[in-house]
Amino acid sequence: MVSSKFSAAAVALAAARLAVAQTHTLCSPMKKDCPDVPAFGNGEHVIDFTKGSSDEFVLAAGTTLTYDGPKGAVFTISKEGNAPTISSNKFLMFGSVEVITQAAFGAGIVTSVVLQADDLDEIDWEWIGNDYKQVQTNYFSKGDDSTFDRGGYHNVANPQTTFNNYTIDWTKDYVRWYINGAQVRELKYADAKGGKTFPQSPCQVKIGTWIAGRKDAPKGTVEWAGGYTDFAQGPFLAYYQTVKVRDYQKGESGAKAYHYGDRSGTWESVQVLKDGSSTGPKPSSSGTVAPSSSSSAPTSSDAPTSSATTLQPTPSPSNTGVPGGANNNTSTGGPRPTGTGANPANPGQSAPPSAGVRSAVSFAGLAAAVFLSSLLL
Ligand SMILES: *[C@@H]1O[C@H](CO)[C@@H](O)[C@H](O)[C@H]1NC(C)=O
Ligand SMILES: *[C@@H]1O[C@H](CO)[C@@H](O)[C@H](O)[C@H]1NC(C)=O
Ligand SMILES: *[C@@H]1O[C@H](CO)[C@@H](O)[C@H](O)[C@H]1NC(C)=O
Repeated sequence: MVSSKFSAAAVALAAARLAVAQTHTLCSPMKKDCPDVPAFGNGEHVIDFTKGSSDEFVLAAGTTLTYDGPKGAVFTISKEGNAPTISSNKFLMFGSVEVITQAAFGAGIVTSVVLQADDLDEIDWEWIGNDYKQVQTNYFSKGDDSTFDRGGYHNVANPQTTFNNYTIDWTKDYVRWYINGAQVRELKYADAKGGKTFPQSPCQVKIGTWIAGRKDAPKGTVEWAGGYTDFAQGPFLAYYQTVKVRDYQKGESGAKAYHYGDRSGTWESVQVLKDGSSTGPKPSSSGTVAPSSSSSAPTSSDAPTSSATTLQPTPSPSNTGVPGGANNNTSTGGPRPTGTGANPANPGQSAPPSAGVRSAVSFAGLAAAVFLSSLLL
């Protein structure tokens, strides 16, 4: 029993990882030749959710967003299995990403803004729903979450009741995190194991809210996330007013797509494809891959085998978010940070910082756990 349950879980976990990666493509560029990915390219891309939905983002299965005027897009968690998540259609190859956001309340509720590559390089912001004083930053290289020395904690007052400007500036030399214009962290290329673990593949912008305080979650994860989630305190709402993206295009301009030149996972190997040209030496019968075709959705030839497809967890109807109208109440309904520090339910504050770092999970890992949980329920 135990072993069959374990293997079912392992299969589900693998499938969930696929499902996460699949928001754009199932292709893992360090394992096989992958299609080129579309680039944000020139200019500042301003996604203004105070004006409603944006076609720059794709909603994950089961995700329903609502829009609340000047508060912008609303990500709602009201019950077990909710995990509203969106991903940008396009990728940046170094660049800046600014979000003006108000995180969700709630023990065990994690609000995440993540730059994530198809090879699972990752640059994160994460807010724990009952940590009223801090935001966490993190980074991952090629999905490796086996060490726990990358996380950071940064002061920000009441992120669950105030909108703040959280900006990531990412170049080949550094990642800098800013809160309201003040730099709170810098990761230098050289400081990431000599660059080996520095995030350096084209990234999508992924935004999501997760339940890490699930009954079945590992203890460490629950502790990291501020305890078990009490849904009676919900719904738990995260808001996004704007997202602004600048794609540094690996120092070039006019990027239409990014081409994985080899399977090294290094930034040097990524090639910038521009209008009407292909720098990609990827061999094909016609010699090169045209960026125009490659910048569209991945073709079925890049899709996983049918057996992998059948492993994808299908969100049950109960996971598809709340019906419209349930979000009319712009109050979060959750316990309010008082600003006096008197809130008793604040494990995020009392836990030693190392506990959080030790238990932090990558966006992919967290998403996988969420899907796994909904499967086993
Ligand atoms: C947000 O912060 C970034 C980084 O400091 C800054 O460049 C940008 O102008 C800020 N945005 C707003 C709307 O203040
Ligand atoms: C939402 O709230 C507003 C103002 O409180 C009210 O006028 C409106 O009827 C409500 N809508 C729904 C669907 O409950
Ligand atoms: C909105 O939510 C708050 C907090 O749960 C609650 O006190 C209030 O009654 C709700 N308002 C409406 C109109 O449902």
